[in-house]
Amino acid sequence: MLLSVSRDGRQRLGTQIETQLRGAIREGRLRAGARVPSTRDLACQLGVSRRVVVEAYAQLAAEGYLTLRQGARPCVAETVRGRVLSSPGAGVPAATPRFDLRPRTPDVSAFPRSQWLRCLRDALRTMTNAEFGYGDPRGAEALRSALAEYLGRVRGVAAVPERMIITNGYSQGQGIVCRALAARGARRIGFENPSHPEQRRVAERAGLEIVPIAVDQAGVRLDELERADVDALVLTPAHQHPTGAVLTGERRRGLLTWLRRRDAIVIEDDYDAEYRYDRAAVGALHGLEPDRIVYAGSASKTLAPALRLGWLVVPARLLAAVTDEKDLADCGTASVEQHAFATFLARGELDRHLRRMRGRYRSRRDLLLDELARALPEATVRGVAAGLHATVELPEDYDEHAILDQARRRGVTLMTMRDFWIPPGTGAPTLLLGYAQIPIPAIPTAVLALTDAIRSTRQR
Ligand SMILES: Cc1ncc(COP(=O)(O)O)c(C=O)c1O
Repeated sequence: MLLSVSRDGRQRLGTQIETQLRGAIREGRLRAGARVPSTRDLACQLGVSRRVVVEAYAQLAAEGYLTLRQGARPCVAETVRGRVLSSPGAGVPAATPRFDLRPRTPDVSAFPRSQWLRCLRDALRTMTNAEFGYGDPRGAEALRSALAEYLGRVRGVAAVPERMIITNGYSQGQGIVCRALAARGARRIGFENPSHPEQRRVAERAGLEIVPIAVDQAGVRLDELERADVDALVLTPAHQHPTGAVLTGERRRGLLTWLRRRDAIVIEDDYDAEYRYDRAAVGALHGLEPDRIVYAGSASKTLAPALRLGWLVVPARLLAAVTDEKDLADCGTASVEQHAFATFLARGELDRHLRRMRGRYRSRRDLLLDELARALPEATVRGVAAGLHATVELPEDYDEHAILDQARRRGVTLMTMRDFWIPPGTGAPTLLLGYAQIPIPAIPTAVLALTDAIRSTRQR
């Protein structure tokens, strides 16, 4: 490949490599899917240290230009072509952020592809003919058993395979529980405020009325809950989404008292509890009241959203109704993937993957916090003991809208608390910065670009 570097000291070697590769991709000389030299080959060709090339590639991967995969030759990202061609002459392709700080997706570039492939192969080899037919709508017994063992061991969930239902992600799980509750006469469901808007829509579609319940640093507020007159409640107790608060022991006890007195149902969304960095993880609420709590989990944060795998542990009195809703929805989740996941769990692959990723995310979080402390001393950073994002609260007179706009112009996409309030929510301007998808070498530059965006809104 025709690349060259100059050693006249005017530009860093890595920057020269990045600029030339970025230019070649934008101008279409390097097409989507095209392979680029390995870091070792390019370092050799240019006579530079391999680290310089590794960092340049990591930057281009963070910007969306390259796809890096362990054991495979780096190549130009598949997403690049359409975007560049659809905006000819544009500087940065509009839809491709240089830095994606949205708190949504884990680092899917680290998905354990070869381990998953082995498990898929084994599933195809060992599944019986009968297992290729319509099965139990609750899901494959092998997976329900493997998950029950995993959830009991890792999250303290009182799970038995008979009361588990495998779903297409958390979202479907919440949907079928809400429909089952509505069919039994439930009318009002509490949601933490702020919370995930899509999940509120799922509950609304099931015919339930959304009731906002405020959240503070200790989690959901019990005084509001007492006044709310709800039949059910969706909660993220291990790591409130999106504030990052952990429901305190005192609130947990109060919540359980409310739950029993009211004979309500809690849907416990345990979406990212495996990521806890500074202390041991808090166990799931479910183990404390399994007859009134539906436990809901997902592989979307631990592995990848593309798997569309989730699970429920359902109280006995709701089991038939929720199983019926699952059956009506799709006659059951795809079986081959369920068998592959069962083997993946039984072989300890998920434990290994999480151990590896926890270390990686912790380093990214620590560097992000250092950079933010230096660059934005006026900000208060919260919610970083667990999960995959930080909440960054700014002084009252900062303008979230203007910051988002300026950040976008600098190639930084992020979300703010505004995206999660139940209208007409209010609160201090707060940025949500996901660090799962941004590699270490790109973090300082991303924070620099973000800070520049924030400062530019203060100069007007
Ligand atoms: C709060 C919360 N719960 C659950 C999920 C997982 O949803 P699903 O399993 O449908 O991908 C997400 C994913 O973004 C989330 O933000």
